[in-house]
Amino acid sequence: MTAQLDKMDHVAIDLQHLSKVYGSGHVAVKAIDDVSLHVLEGEIVAVMGPSGSGKTTLLQVIGALLKPTSGDVIVNGTSISACPEGSLCQVRLQTFGFIFQTPNLLSALTAVQNVELAMNLAGAKGEKARQKARQLLEELNLEMRLGHRPANLSGGEQQRVAIARALANDPPILLADEPTANLDSKTGQGVMELLRKIAKDKGKTAVIVSHDLRIRYFADRVLWLEDGRLRPRWSEGVTIDPVCLMAVEKDKTTNVIEYEGEKFYFCSLECRREFEKAPSRFKESKLRS
Ligand SMILES: Nc1ncnc2c1ncn2[C@@H]1O[C@H](COP(=O)(O)OP(=O)(O)O)[C@@H](O)[C@H]1O
Ligand SMILES: [Mg+2]
Repeated sequence: MTAQLDKMDHVAIDLQHLSKVYGSGHVAVKAIDDVSLHVLEGEIVAVMGPSGSGKTTLLQVIGALLKPTSGDVIVNGTSISACPEGSLCQVRLQTFGFIFQTPNLLSALTAVQNVELAMNLAGAKGEKARQKARQLLEELNLEMRLGHRPANLSGGEQQRVAIARALANDPPILLADEPTANLDSKTGQGVMELLRKIAKDKGKTAVIVSHDLRIRYFADRVLWLEDGRLRPRWSEGVTIDPVCLMAVEKDKTTNVIEYEGEKFYFCSLECRREFEKAPSRFKESKLRS
């Protein structure tokens, strides 16, 4: 019994038969379908899934931004579903740091002020907050950009400010939704390296959802989501675009070509054209199967 309790002590996120249905009747969409999962403290989990598989919904339900239709989310031993609506805002601020696809920084504020504002919202004010904001930005290699406004920062720099903002109130859990989707491949990799390093240095638990398969290299554990369900692997219906390495559903794309007797599926016309220019560059992509 004690051993079991000790083990449970290290579970940061416990999802119990989680489901989320949007709408009702004949327009009902089951976005999350009976998902159960333990994420351990300090663990970085990547949830990979094609577009529409339920990634954003899953992350928002974990982060108490959306109520599940059934099932429960237990964070550090406390049931989020049981929290009264009025206290959820505080739970969110103290428990979760969110990183989205777009950094959503306030354009009139500098990098430091954007991070500081997140602290102010949770009650930390003045020089102490400013000092901590500076320190976080320095840890994300932004020491030369502290006084810059978002318009004068590159996409990768803006996303690193967003990571600092997510860490502003020292939440135990980071939740990231497609954090590299708006970045080129090299910048995305740099951002993910830093995200992983800072999460590990600070002992944070992280759940990252994405359809960019490269994210999996930065995770301790990779899970596969398809049609709202976690699976040991994707079905035959899901494949990888050999150019951008994004997950695509075969029956949801019209960008398909046959090359040397094999079918290739692309997320967009741009990727298909890129492939057609030099198929041999992409056809051996190790990630595809
Ligand atoms: N607010 C909403 N109302 C109705 N359906 C939604 C809503 N948000 C998402 N969906 C549907 O739920 C499914 C999962 O969506 P989402 O969680 O955004 O997937 P992903 O992030 O993997 O692209 C999709 O079929 C989507 O169309
Ligand atoms: Mg999404």
